[in-house]
Amino acid sequence: MNEALAKLTGGVAVITGAGSGIGEGLAREAAAAGMKVVLADIAQDRIDALAADIKRDGGEALPVVTDVSDPQALEALADRVFDTFGSVRLLINNAGIETLGLTWEIPAATWEKTLDINIHGVIHGVRAFAPRMIDAGEQAFIANTSSIGALGIMPVQTSYILSKHAVLAFSECLYLEMQLKQLPISVSAILPGPVATRIFTDSAGTDDEVSRFHRKVMEDMLADNGMTGREAAKIILPQIAAGEFWVSTHPEMTGEYAANRARHLTALSAPALPPEVLASLGAANTN
Ligand SMILES: NC(=O)c1ccc[n+]([C@@H]2O[C@H](COP(=O)([O-])OP(=O)(O)OC[C@H]3O[C@@H](n4cnc5c(N)ncnc54)[C@H](O)[C@@H]3O)[C@@H](O)[C@H]2O)c1
Repeated sequence: MNEALAKLTGGVAVITGAGSGIGEGLAREAAAAGMKVVLADIAQDRIDALAADIKRDGGEALPVVTDVSDPQALEALADRVFDTFGSVRLLINNAGIETLGLTWEIPAATWEKTLDINIHGVIHGVRAFAPRMIDAGEQAFIANTSSIGALGIMPVQTSYILSKHAVLAFSECLYLEMQLKQLPISVSAILPGPVATRIFTDSAGTDDEVSRFHRKVMEDMLADNGMTGREAAKIILPQIAAGEFWVSTHPEMTGEYAANRARHLTALSAPALPPEVLASLGAANTN
């Protein structure tokens, strides 16, 4: 086993959004590394099936239906986990949804749902678990799933992109707070590139040509270029265990996005996408 991964062996991992995609992959990899895994998701059938699978392979898994958009549900999850296992070595705030549409056409309730899951779910996940992880006084890990999209901008995915920028900034500040208090909690921001999951198929948003076109483009892109959730997890988990802040599935692409963003900010240039990207997103249809 990877040397860094050995730091996780025997500990408890709590993974939100564990019912599918990257979260499912992380749960399987954490179990394979000898962790007891808590599978938190709104999709009970999926986490029950995953728990059964992990147990069949000799692992330990506890499925707990949890809606991360509800701070009290996260408190209840933390109570359940600490009552059951007594400690948490790894918390991955991973649950997230995509929402498509033009800003002014997305209903207020859909905006709020997106921000509640993608941003508040991460914040309240940390609030629910960090105090008891800190009290334990042992080395532990908190990782928040942002996106490579946190280093860029994308119309029609506005609510998603802004939420991922927020998760990145939150994680950076949280990292500094742990340093400030000299606590043994490592903080990571996970910035996945394309991973073939159900995220666009399940995406919310407006029911119009702009959203439908964008969803199809992104579904095809993930199907053609995305790695599997399990492949992503195999890359992500050792980086978290090694205490890396920036955790990437596609390091080269992450570097390019970061460099482009840095150039854009350094020049204070107006927001722009390359014409071919705009065309691939159906720019003509957005007029
Ligand atoms: N797939 C990609 O290419 C990609 C790229 C960058 C970032 N990400 C991020 O990775 C994370 C996982 O996404 P994925 O691609 O595996 O998507 P996915 O849709 O396959 O899995 C997301 C899981 O989250 C669960 N979920 C949704 N709402 C929830 C809620 N309120 N409470 C608890 N669980 C909830 C879903 O039931 C699902 O099982 C997300 O934060 C996403 O933004 C994905």
